[in-house]
Amino acid sequence: MPLVTSKEMFKKAYDGGYAIGAFNVNNMEIVQGITEAAKELQAPLILQVSKGARAYANHIYLRKLVEAALEDTGLPICLHLDHGDSYELCCECIDGGFTSVMIDGSHHPFEENIALTKKVVDYAHDHGVVVEAELGRLEGVEDEIKVSSEDASYTKPEEVQEFVEKTGVDSLAIAIGTSHGAFKFKGEAKLRFDILDEVVKRIPGFPIVLHGASSVIPEFVEMINKYGGDMPGAKGVPEDMLRKAAGSAVCKINIDSDLRLAMTATIRKYFAENPSHFDPRQYLKPARAAIKDMVKHKIEYVLGCAGKA
Ligand code: G3H
Ligand code: 13P
Ligand code: ZN
Repeated sequence: MPLVTSKEMFKKAYDGGYAIGAFNVNNMEIVQGITEAAKELQAPLILQVSKGARAYANHIYLRKLVEAALEDTGLPICLHLDHGDSYELCCECIDGGFTSVMIDGSHHPFEENIALTKKVVDYAHDHGVVVEAELGRLEGVEDEIKVSSEDASYTKPEEVQEFVEKTGVDSLAIAIGTSHGAFKFKGEAKLRFDILDEVVKRIPGFPIVLHGASSVIPEFVEMINKYGGDMPGAKGVPEDMLRKAAGSAVCKINIDSDLRLAMTATIRKYFAENPSHFDPRQYLKPARAAIKDMVKHKIEYVLGCAGKA
């Protein structure tokens, strides 16, 4: 099976009350950990590549790794550009074999976001590729861009219908209180499900995307702190909130920080216990296994997409 778009996946997820995991990939062990988990549980997958991942690993290596996973697993896999920041970058990824792109115009004024998104949609649809856009702005760090809490803003439900109609976009990321990175909430975790409900009322049946949706799994944060790290106050989105979102119009849940934490915690522990080892295979193997276990947990207990491939 070739790489697929997320069109069919989202339709089934919307109707079935579950979500697809969109996991960020940066190297072979991450791709393998995620896809081995999905293969065992027969879950559909979105593997996403950021601008930073392309700069780190090179577009062609990442695409070939994902194609290898496709051949190895036989799963429906969508290859997605995460947080595309320009028309040119989106076109490069469309021409370079991706089946889905995000154009993130959320920092532009409404009309400019519409114009940029529409331009990407026109090119993408001509090439059989789907497009995700964003309204509202998440707090946190992506690549070199840092969005402060003052600059973050919730999605305005009254804007979504016009945005979707004018752009022809295929899915919409909204801001309801999640944020990028490992420090999402200072106090109690709170998501604005009332905003999500208002959005759904205006665009029923339309797939919604949740960014910044790592749980920042406490077990990994504790491990990092135990083995020489320093992440006091790290906090993510509680799993019950994610499960609730997955059962609604949210069809795509973005997870990157939990992959980073699983990998880093495991490698820190490995070196603490084996200070004289220096073969990368020795420490990358348990790191890959930790990613696999974590992704299996997400698929079964958070996303609800086991057996939906
Ligand atoms: O939302 C951003 C993702 O976590 C990707 O992060 O841009 O550092 O690769 P990155
Ligand atoms: P996390 O930082 O919560 O993993 O979010 C990832 C993300 O939104 C990628 O686009
Ligand atoms: Zn994101």
